[in-house]
Amino acid sequence: MIKLVYHGHACFSISDGTYDLLIDPFLKGNPLADVQPDEVNPTHILVTHGHSDHLGDALEIARRTKAEIVAPNELAQYCSMQGAQIAAMHIGGARSFPFGRLKMTPAWHGSAIIQGNEIIYTGTPCGYIIEMQGITIYHAGDTGLFGDMKLIGQRNQIDYALLPIGDNYVMGPYDAVEAALMLQAKITIPMHYDTFPIIKQNPYLYIEKLRENGLQGIVLKPGEAITAPTV
Ligand code: NI
Ligand code: MN
Repeated sequence: MIKLVYHGHACFSISDGTYDLLIDPFLKGNPLADVQPDEVNPTHILVTHGHSDHLGDALEIARRTKAEIVAPNELAQYCSMQGAQIAAMHIGGARSFPFGRLKMTPAWHGSAIIQGNEIIYTGTPCGYIIEMQGITIYHAGDTGLFGDMKLIGQRNQIDYALLPIGDNYVMGPYDAVEAALMLQAKITIPMHYDTFPIIKQNPYLYIEKLRENGLQGIVLKPGEAITAPTV
C-alpha cells in the first residue's frame, strides 16, 4: 500500500510503510497544516524550491530526523551548508533511491530564500515524478501552465497528479484543467489554494471542471489520505 496524505498548501507525505517521503513541509505558520514539524518522521524530504511556503520546516525536520533533503542543486547546497544531509539533483535528471525512483521536472516559477533584507537565489524551481512500489505520482511544484506537461503525460502513466490551482503565484483552476488534460493522470488532486486570501479557490468547482473534461479529481482536506494498492 502507498499512503498519500495531504498536509495543506503543497505539502504531502507518501509512505509505503518503510520509507516516508515528505514534500514541501510548510507546517509552522501554515494555517491549514494538520501536523507540526516535531510530529513528522520522514526518511526523505523533497523540496521543490526555496520559497518559505515550500522549504518551510525542512531544515529543522532534517536536523532532528536525519532525513535526506532532495532538492535542485543550488537549494540542496544551501541545505547542506545548514547541516542537512542532501541529495542534489537537477531538471531532467532521474535517480534511484531506496524507496523508488525520482525524476526532477521543470516548473515555471522562482526560487529564493528571503532573510531580512537579503534575497538568496536558489536556482530553478522543480516538480517531481515519484515512482514508489509501482505507483507514479507527479507533484508539479509551484508552476504556471507549460506545454511540456504533455510530454510528462505521454512518457509517464501517472496515478496521481498533484497540481496547484491557487492562481496569482501559480496556475489558476482553468490552466490547471488544461494541465490535467495534458497529464492524463488517473486522479488529479488540487493543491496550493486557500492558505492565504489571495489564493482562495473552490476546489470542488475545479473537480467539476475536470469531470466535464472526462477526468477524475479528488479534493483532499488537510489530514486526509488516500491509499493505493501496490503492484
Ligand atoms: Ni513559490
Ligand atoms: Mn508557493
